[in-house]
Amino acid sequence: MAMGFEFDSATRRKLGYQLIDQIDQYYASLEDRAVQVPVEQRSYGTLNNPLPELGEDPAQVLGELCHEMVDKGFHVPAANYFGLMNPTPTYMGVLAETLVSALNPQLATLARSQLASKIELETVRWIAERVGWGSGFGGTFTSGGNEANFSGLALAIGQHFPGAVDEGVSSIGGQPVLYASAEAHHSLDKSAGLLGIGRKALRRVTTNGSLQMDPSQLDRAIAQDRDSGRIPFCVVATAGTTNSGSVDDLVAIADICRRNTLWLHVDGAFGASVVFSDKHRDLVRGIELADSITIDPHKWLAVPFAAGVILTRHPKVLEQAFSVASPYMPKATGARLPDNSRVSMQWTRRMNSMKLWLTLRVHGRRAYEELIDRQLQLTRDFVSWVERSTEFEMAAPAMLTIVNFMVKSRGRSPEQIAAIHGYIVDEVTRDGQRWISETVVNGCSVLRMMVISYLTRERHLEGLQNSLKTAVAAVFAAKKVKA
Ligand SMILES: Cc1ncc(COP(=O)(O)O)c(C=O)c1O
Repeated sequence: MAMGFEFDSATRRKLGYQLIDQIDQYYASLEDRAVQVPVEQRSYGTLNNPLPELGEDPAQVLGELCHEMVDKGFHVPAANYFGLMNPTPTYMGVLAETLVSALNPQLATLARSQLASKIELETVRWIAERVGWGSGFGGTFTSGGNEANFSGLALAIGQHFPGAVDEGVSSIGGQPVLYASAEAHHSLDKSAGLLGIGRKALRRVTTNGSLQMDPSQLDRAIAQDRDSGRIPFCVVATAGTTNSGSVDDLVAIADICRRNTLWLHVDGAFGASVVFSDKHRDLVRGIELADSITIDPHKWLAVPFAAGVILTRHPKVLEQAFSVASPYMPKATGARLPDNSRVSMQWTRRMNSMKLWLTLRVHGRRAYEELIDRQLQLTRDFVSWVERSTEFEMAAPAMLTIVNFMVKSRGRSPEQIAAIHGYIVDEVTRDGQRWISETVVNGCSVLRMMVISYLTRERHLEGLQNSLKTAVAAVFAAKKVKA
């Protein structure tokens, strides 16, 4: 039973080694670990333990927790997770998180964080340099892409309607509107509502066959809104959509923004990380033309949650949108950098940058160059398999590491195809070994797989391909749907 919170050195070390041993075993298992328990063992009920009045033996509780979390958990870090944009965390990232928890640097103000703040700003600079912004940028770490996108829209409002920061959106004197593709992330709807301009202010522009925003439709929508007295102020282009990984034509959209004096925010939560690759940087050509960018290191850069980043070429607007004077803020005498709280929605702030900084210090950018190249190659291999398959076909081009595919239509209705996809996903995920999903793209059901773990290799793809073949055969054999 542990009453006080202090432990002696021997206990601290014993518990620490115990945890590291558990994490080590877990990491050793990830290449072959099932993503989750088989379907019949899954349960989604609540836990009903009473609030502990008195504590228990720490080694025992910690040991039990580790076992339960591993035995009953859902393992996003597993090599067979072909899932959403959640990576296997780098081990240096895990260690950095532990150090951050222990030191608990308070990033709200420079005066109380100093080196931690400098490390954060350095990490932001490294990313900005990869974007192509040598100087004159600002930015900060966020809790993820949602907060970064929210911040990007707040910047766009701050730039276009500076009075609105104090006077509110009613002072704008008209309805502000912004644009994103039909495939853009739902955090934009949420942000538009929370920023007070309303979710309907977000115009969804139709996409072309590659699921990219159609620039001519964008041009037309802006003109129509202007003619109707509304006030366009921002376009959000996506670099790596959640469904399909498609990248909007950033150069064409930047040109439209320049002609119409609109803020360009690039939601590169997933895809902007490709700037870390010299070989593939062209996939996000034009990203440097953005006014602000969202990039989430906790996606393709494989650091543990949470780490998003908002970057902008207009550091003054960042302060205009976020800084509030408070007499209790400690001042850093002689500081040449803005306090973090002046450029962020957050006040007390965790150091979300150390895990990327440490990963880069230990492995270097070239490790990301190699990772991105390898994952793009694995994706191309999977696409070739789909194209050769007798049962499946591609549903959309794969620009990054996401593949949208479908059963061959063979005259089936969209409802039949959706039903087949549902059965296939159930079959593939039934034993818990691997995970894929289905989604809806352009109104049609598609199967979705993504290469996201740095542990995923050819043999994992082969396992998935075999599982898909078995699943499709089982679905038709059981006559669940017309073959
Ligand atoms: C394109 C895109 N933008 C934003 C987000 C939101 O990021 P987060 O989950 O880190 O808040 C996601 C999440 O998947 C995304 O795919």
